Amino acid sequence: NQQLIPVQDISRFRSRSEEFFPLDWYKRMLTDNPVYYHEETDTWNVFRYDHVKLVLSNHEFFSAEGTRTTFQIGAKNKEGTVPEKLSLTNMDPPRHQKYRSLLSAAFTPRSLKNWEPRIRQVVAKLIDEMEGGTTVDIVQSLAGPLPSIAMADLLGVPSKDNLLFKNWVDILFQPARGGDARELEERKGTAAREYFQYLYPIVLQKRAEPADDIISDLLQVELEGERFEDDEVVKTTMLLLGAGIETTSHMLSSTFYSFLYDDPALYGQLRENPELIPLAVEEMLRYRFHCSKRHRTVKQDNDLLGVELKKGDVVISWMSAANMDERMFENPFTLDIHRANNKKHLTFGSGPHFCLGAPLARLELNLALTEFLPRFSRIEPVAGFDLESHLADSAPGQTLTSLPVTIYK
Ligand code: HEM
Repeated sequence: NQQLIPVQDISRFRSRSEEFFPLDWYKRMLTDNPVYYHEETDTWNVFRYDHVKLVLSNHEFFSAEGTRTTFQIGAKNKEGTVPEKLSLTNMDPPRHQKYRSLLSAAFTPRSLKNWEPRIRQVVAKLIDEMEGGTTVDIVQSLAGPLPSIAMADLLGVPSKDNLLFKNWVDILFQPARGGDARELEERKGTAAREYFQYLYPIVLQKRAEPADDIISDLLQVELEGERFEDDEVVKTTMLLLGAGIETTSHMLSSTFYSFLYDDPALYGQLRENPELIPLAVEEMLRYRFHCSKRHRTVKQDNDLLGVELKKGDVVISWMSAANMDERMFENPFTLDIHRANNKKHLTFGSGPHFCLGAPLARLELNLALTEFLPRFSRIEPVAGFDLESHLADSAPGQTLTSLPVTIYK
């Protein structure tokens, strides 16, 4: 059982908006406290690009195993818990490699090619429902549903059950900050149970009749005599949901927020030059994604960060801060899709645990933009939009609960 580290106590943001876009804090930490010990949480915190990368990738000294964690889990009952054997985020090489290979069987370049038309169809359907000349809520209509509907489709869940699926996902990954923690835990427990009961028969059916989807891929993969059992496949899908849904939603909604409020000319430029879309995707991940932080536990005493670290110490890598390090990115505090090395951002991590779903997340944002841009000549913010009241806690950090956008044909 892992103990949760209250990371928000370290940054002490005064408002949701500050946490949503904490550039001033990053700037201060990068300059004044690049290796920062926070007493209350008993954690070391690193912000510089080279430090963050080192901590994430040097598994000899910094372990992904450990008893303290910075992230929320789905639900605590047996249906909602990802068994240790499958929790690859908490494993070190060499064990990690084997389980990662099993899972990556579902994330090959061939699968991505197959997924593209399917995701494009999901995107197009969501956008078809938007009418020009009106104000739409981009969170409700695109950024929220796209990742879970796309994932349901890729897993092989019948499309009639997409909303049911999305509903479970929403409950399972709701964070427990404030409110009645016990009540939330019960709701999560129920959602996990229902999800398990729903998916298990689907897994059995795909065992009998494999199809072209992630569940069937996971059922077929075998490595050194190791394979996934039926119930393990269900738990593995839960791991994928936990890692891939809220993060991708956040990426999508933040991108539209950026079009409206960071650089209003960018939308038109991308519309005229769609070949620039992949550059914009990378810069959005660098500049507008502020939830990326991961912990590691010191495996052996070392001074690799210029301070004495002892075995068992916890180090938190603030990847989103590293994305603002001037040693790495020129004028980091400016949005610039043409900066040559934007793709070097650490939003997806670094080293052995580098995000397995990064190609999928990139594909979803690319497709969302390639489908959206040609249909609407321009987009505008609504007058008087108040950011603070449109943000809420989520597992990855502050995310938009709604984003009104006026769209023109
Ligand atoms: C790992 C970020 C989307 C699946 C990670 C890690 C990061 C990350 C930072 C590394 C964790 C560590 O070093 O401890 C993101 C972001 C996303 C995203 C920012 C969207 C914008 C996805 C998607 C999926 C996914 C769509 C799959 C459906 C995974 C998995 C791991 C992982 C399975 C664990 C890899 C391992 O431990 O070897 N992700 N992720 N992610 N991600 Fe993502």
